[in-house]
Amino acid sequence: MLRASSKSSSCTRRRGRRSIVAEAWKNTAVLQRGLIDVAAHARTMLDAAGYGDVRVITRDGALGAREHAPFDRMIATVGVWDLPAAWWDQLAIGGRLVLPLRWRGLTRSVAFIRDKDRMRSDSVKTCGFLPMIGQDGEREGHIDADRLIKIYWDADQPIVPLALRGAIAQPGTCAWSEATVGPEDPFDGVWLRLTATEPGTCRITVKPAAIDGGLRRPAVPALSPALVQGGSLAYLTLRPLAEGGGAESRFRLGAAVGYGSDGVDLAERLCEQIRAWDRDRTAEPVLTAYPADTPDSRLITGQVIDKPSVRLMISY
Ligand SMILES: C[S@@+](CC[C@H](N)C(=O)[O-])C[C@H]1O[C@@H](n2cnc3c(N)ncnc32)[C@H](O)[C@@H]1O
Repeated sequence: MLRASSKSSSCTRRRGRRSIVAEAWKNTAVLQRGLIDVAAHARTMLDAAGYGDVRVITRDGALGAREHAPFDRMIATVGVWDLPAAWWDQLAIGGRLVLPLRWRGLTRSVAFIRDKDRMRSDSVKTCGFLPMIGQDGEREGHIDADRLIKIYWDADQPIVPLALRGAIAQPGTCAWSEATVGPEDPFDGVWLRLTATEPGTCRITVKPAAIDGGLRRPAVPALSPALVQGGSLAYLTLRPLAEGGGAESRFRLGAAVGYGSDGVDLAERLCEQIRAWDRDRTAEPVLTAYPADTPDSRLITGQVIDKPSVRLMISY
C-alpha cells in the first residue's frame, strides 16, 4: 500500500490460505508449475488434512484444466499480467475469477464475474504477488546514465527509456495539488485513477543515491506512479506541509516534472487525478475485461489497455 511512510510493497499473507481455499471451493484443481516438490507436498498435506478430493495438477497454469471445465470458481495465487485465453473458455457464464492482476506497474486483487462476452469486477483490492512465469508483457529499463532510476511499463505502451535521459538530467519543477495525507494514509488510489485516464501511466523506482544527487523524491521511492509521453516525464511526489516537518507531519501530494516539451502538461494531468482521488478517496473502479478480438464498437467508453488475450477497461 502506498503511504507517506512506505519503504516497500506489501506482501501477501501465507498463513491459512490453503485451507480457506479448499473449504470454500471443494474439488478445485490446484495448479502449480515448476516446483514438483511443492505439488507433492500439497498432495501429502491435503490428504493429511482430509481434503483427498482436491486434485493437484502440475502444469502451466495458463492452460487451466480443460478436462475438468467448466468451473464456477477460479483463483490464481500468482501475479497475472494477461488473462489466458484458456481461462475465458473454462470459466462458466456467471462464474467468478479472482486473481492478482498486473497492469501499468501495479497489482490489484480483482474479483471478476463472467458475463457472456465480458467479465466485470465487483472487488478491486491492494495486493502484491510475484509475476506468473511465461507472461512476458512487462518491460523495465533505466532512464539515467548511473542506472539508479528505473521505469516499468507494459508492452502496448510506446515508452523508450533512452528518450527520457535528457529529461531526468534536468532539475525539474513541481506542480502541487491541494490534497494532503498523514504518514499512514494510503494514496494507492491515485495510481489506479491514472491507469483509467492516462495511457502513459507506468511505475518509477529510484535508488537513494539518485535522491542524494538532487532528484526530487518520488512519493514512495521503491514504487510510485509516473506518466511518460515521448521524452517527457512526471511522477508522484510529496512534501511535508510544515517547513522541516518530521515523520509526524502531514504531506502535500503533487507531481514532479522531469523535463521535456510535455512535462508541465503531464504534471498538471497527474495533479488532476490526485484531485479526482481526493474527492472520493475510497471509490473503487470497475474493471471490464473483454476477449482480445472484441471490436472497439463493443467496448464501453474509456481508456483501453490491450494485452494479447484481453482488452481491459477501468472506469469510475
Ligand atoms: C505465491 S505462490 C502460491 C503458491 C500456492 N498456490 C499457495 O497458495 O501457497 C505462486 C506460485 O505460482 C507458481 N507459478 C508461477 N508461474 C506459474 C505458471 N505459469 N503456472 C503455474 N504455476 C506458476 C510459482 O512457482 C509459485 O509456486
